Amino acid sequence: MENRTALITGASGGLGLGFAHLCAQDGYDLVLAARNENKLNQIKKELEEKYHISVSVFAVDLSKKDAALDLYRFTKEHDLSIEILINNAGFGLAGSFMDTDWQRQYEMVQLNIVALMQLSHCYLKDMTVKGKGKNLNLSSVAAYCADPDMSVYYASKAFVKSFSDALSAETEETGVTVTALCPSPTATGFEKAAAGKQITMFRHAADPASVAKAGYRVMMAGKPLCNPGVLPKLMNLGARISPDFITNRIAKK
Ligand SMILES: NC(=O)c1ccc[n+]([C@@H]2O[C@H](COP(=O)([O-])OP(=O)(O)OC[C@H]3O[C@@H](n4cnc5c(N)ncnc54)[C@H](OP(=O)(O)O)[C@@H]3O)[C@@H](O)[C@H]2O)c1
Repeated sequence: MENRTALITGASGGLGLGFAHLCAQDGYDLVLAARNENKLNQIKKELEEKYHISVSVFAVDLSKKDAALDLYRFTKEHDLSIEILINNAGFGLAGSFMDTDWQRQYEMVQLNIVALMQLSHCYLKDMTVKGKGKNLNLSSVAAYCADPDMSVYYASKAFVKSFSDALSAETEETGVTVTALCPSPTATGFEKAAAGKQITMFRHAADPASVAKAGYRVMMAGKPLCNPGVLPKLMNLGARISPDFITNRIAKK
């Protein structure tokens, strides 16, 4: 019997590590991708010992052009048939658009949008042929509004939400499902990577294990959208019923 394998990007910490535990608990073999190879190998060892599964590690900078294709080729060459794709790797960048570094903004778009699209393009095709598969994409509560001090990040997450909604409809009745996860601020490495300091809205950050669990459950149920917690649900509702300028004001506060 073919082994069931889940591929998780950004699995060296934060939410990605949470997803790795949840997939492993359910008996999935894993492919873990991120830049930090040492961390990935340490996680591989821990998960293999704890869950008696097989873990493959692929160290990659997914913000580089076509790095996502290298990851796809790696899984093909190793005969790893991906049943779950979790597009989780991503980062934010705090500061006004004009003042923040162009190269970082570019890398953010490459990682948060282009690599996610490229992996979806490769694996959803394979899954559709097999008539089976699940894809979870990390959007954010940021998808529901615009933020002048994190413009590109918020826009990237709006892209992920819209893209996932569309793919969820496109894959209807194929046996493949696509889910967008829209967490509120969560206590991971995100805040430090985005700002290098504390961000006010992270004062009441959610617990990463609970957020990962909520997203994992909704993905396994094959539903299109997971808004874990009160804030994402309110923001989703607000975005639907109130004019943009009000939602954006609230987001800015
Ligand atoms: N935390 C939040 O408040 C929050 C809220 C909503 C949505 N999200 C989304 O959740 C996802 C996971 O973030 P997190 O909160 O778990 O943050 P995190 O702790 O900073 O984890 C980010 C992960 O992405 C990997 N990564 C970063 N740059 C990469 C690159 N160029 N190539 C490959 N991997 C890369 C990191 O590993 P390496 O450094 O080893 O590469 C790490 O494993 C992101 O898409 C984020 O936008 C987070």
